[in-house]
Amino acid sequence: MHGRTRAQGYGGEADWEVIDAVARAVKVPVIGNGDITCGADLVKRKTQTAVSGVMIGRAAMQNPWIFREAKHFLKTGKVLPELLVEERWELVLRHCKLAVESRRNGDERQTLTAMRSRLMAYCKGFPGAKELRQKLCQVSSISQVEDLAAFSMGKVGVYEFQ
Ligand SMILES: Cc1cc2nc3c(=O)[nH]c(=O)nc-3n(C[C@H](O)[C@H](O)[C@H](O)COP(=O)(O)O)c2cc1C
Repeated sequence: MHGRTRAQGYGGEADWEVIDAVARAVKVPVIGNGDITCGADLVKRKTQTAVSGVMIGRAAMQNPWIFREAKHFLKTGKVLPELLVEERWELVLRHCKLAVESRRNGDERQTLTAMRSRLMAYCKGFPGAKELRQKLCQVSSISQVEDLAAFSMGKVGVYEFQ
C-alpha cells in the first residue's frame, strides 16, 4: 500500500498513518511504501507502524545499493561506509551487460539508448558527475560506458567521445 492518493501523484509526503491504520484493520499482511530513502527510514516505518514489510521504489532507481545499506542498518543500526566509485561502476557496467544480454530492449544500441536516463541517475555524486551526465546522455554501446567509467575513475586523463 502506498500512502498517497492518485490525485497527489508524487506530491507531498506519503501518509504512513493511513498505511498503519490499514495494516491494523485488515487480517492480511500489508506491505507499505513511500519515501523510503535509507536504512533509517526503513527501520522507522517498520518499528512505528504495523506493516509486515516495506518496499523501496524511486530511491533504488538512483541508488541501487540502497538494499545493501538498508539490510545492514536493519541488522546493526549502523550506516555502511560509502561504496568506492570502482564498486559503483562495476555494478553499473554489470547492469548494462545484463540488459544487453537480455535483449529486452532490442540490440546493444537500442538497449543503451533506453538506459541513458538510468545511467545518468546512477552517476549522481560520482567524480566529474556533470560532465559524465552530458556524455551518458549520448551513449550507445557498452564500450563507451566502459571508457567513461575509466575516465571517471581517473584511469585516463582526457575522454574523447567516439
Ligand atoms: C518507474 C516507476 C514505476 C512504477 N510502476 C508501478 C506500477 O506498475 N504499479 C504500481 O502499483 N505502482 C508503481 N509505481 C509506484 C511504486 O510502487 C511506489 O508506490 C511509489 O514509487 C512510492 O514508493 P517510493 O516513494 O519508494 O518511490 C511505480 C513507481 C515508479 C517510480
